[in-house]
Amino acid sequence: MTHRSSSCDRRQAHGCRPGVIGPRCVTVLLALIVSFSTDGRTPPTTAQTAPSRSAASSNTPSAPTAPAASAFYADSFSTVPSLPAMTALGRALFFDPALSASGRMACATCHDPRFAYGPADSKPVANGGAGLKDPGLRAIPSLRYTQNVPPFTERGLDAEGALGSADQGPAGGRTWDGRANSAHDQALLPLLSSFEMANPSADSVIARVERASYAATFRATFGSDVFADRARALKAVLLALEVFQQSPADFYPYSSRYDQWLRGRIQLNAQEQRGLVLFTAPDKGNCAQCHPSQIRRGSFPQFTDFGFNALGVPRNRLIPANSNANFYDLGLCGPERTDLMQHPEFCGLFRTPTLRNVAVRCVFFHNGTLHNLREVLEFYVERDLKPERWYSASNGRTQIYDDLPERYRGNVDHEPPLNRMPGDQPALSGAEIDDLLAFLQTLTDADLAAGATPACRKP
Ligand code: HEC
Ligand code: HEC
Repeated sequence: MTHRSSSCDRRQAHGCRPGVIGPRCVTVLLALIVSFSTDGRTPPTTAQTAPSRSAASSNTPSAPTAPAASAFYADSFSTVPSLPAMTALGRALFFDPALSASGRMACATCHDPRFAYGPADSKPVANGGAGLKDPGLRAIPSLRYTQNVPPFTERGLDAEGALGSADQGPAGGRTWDGRANSAHDQALLPLLSSFEMANPSADSVIARVERASYAATFRATFGSDVFADRARALKAVLLALEVFQQSPADFYPYSSRYDQWLRGRIQLNAQEQRGLVLFTAPDKGNCAQCHPSQIRRGSFPQFTDFGFNALGVPRNRLIPANSNANFYDLGLCGPERTDLMQHPEFCGLFRTPTLRNVAVRCVFFHNGTLHNLREVLEFYVERDLKPERWYSASNGRTQIYDDLPERYRGNVDHEPPLNRMPGDQPALSGAEIDDLLAFLQTLTDADLAAGATPACRKP
């Protein structure tokens, strides 16, 4: 079952227009911070330009109703922070292990810039906590090309990132289950999570920043009184992390060979071109239906439409939480997020990740269950054709979709290429899988291309 009609246009949402004009997002963000820090009104985040635009163009004078997430930007610091200063501070925070309870875990420990801000190894999940012994639940996503993730919606997005008229199913939000609506909301999760950086409170985060070598720069940027008010100091920390993640050179360079091809500057070779055709052809890979590959309204493609699907990926027995046979990570319907637990139709759905830089990853899917890109493609082709290759057996019977309780297995997606039944022809031959792999390699950014084929170690 799918929560989007397969004929509907799975549309890409975007607040900014990246690609050739990537820095626009940052300019917008900066303009908002600067202008609104003086008059106290609340600006939208970059992902929310659609609602604000309609409000601005309306002639009816009515009290402005600010989107909840944007109230974050209303606070004024005694010094108006500059964009380069915040970016530099955000970078310092991101790479600072002293911000964690263990003193040994920075954001960058898990989100390694050499791997598109994804994991540097092939462990399914990272260990965090005070002693770096507490395992996480999910694979570490890449943070590249997440600058435009729209806020979560249950009903889908239109091309402007606003609620559409037709229900296209849930979309947007940060993390695999979309539970954080902005990069600043997101940043607090790992800082406080018991199995990540494990700070007992926001205050202890601030105390750590106050002791850091860059504390003076922090005061110079946000005002000498920034640490006097804990809430304001926390805001400054989260804002700096958010602004750093809006840095085009670091997070969305659009420098892959595919981007160069979109700009008409290079040719793809014959195999890559065949791979691209397979990627988009509805009766072959059909990948572009959920991982869009085309320029839309001037925006370069993110290779995700931010929609949620249940692919029925195999259970990963290496995740310690899964040693409890009754534990299931159900994505949208819990346990990490709790607001949609009463929606059985959302159980098993996870947000579609970008495929940019996917060739530098060694862990795939939300539970990191596969370790090799060819295997991922084979999974798409063979899931229902040869379930015995992918799923565990009990009493001699293959437990298809074994990472979902039986009552939710009807949520699993059967759009092509996941629509083949035993006896059918596979959607892609071995040679076609080779072609698709060649195409996926063109999505690696130039700065990562040199080390693009990591030795994927077994965990
Ligand atoms: C212990 C490893 C670890 C550390 C440390 C860590 N993260 Fe993450 N990060 C993850 C995992 C795992 C997820 C996915 C979480 C989920 O889906 O529930 C994630 C998700 C994210 C996302 C959402 C990406 C998306 O596609 O929506 C952002 C943004 C992020 N982290 C930023 C940060 C920042 C900023 C820090 C430092 C303050 C940080 N992370 C520290 C492991 C880590
Ligand atoms: C129906 C929508 C849909 C289609 C069609 C689809 N994908 Fe996906 N893709 C997803 C979702 C959702 C996930 C995450 C699933 C999860 O982790 O539970 C995903 C995950 C992936 C991943 C893992 C990336 C990572 O960072 O872990 C790769 C690689 C991938 N898809 C490639 C492809 C390719 C190649 C095709 C075409 C053969 C394709 N997908 C077709 C929705 C789709």
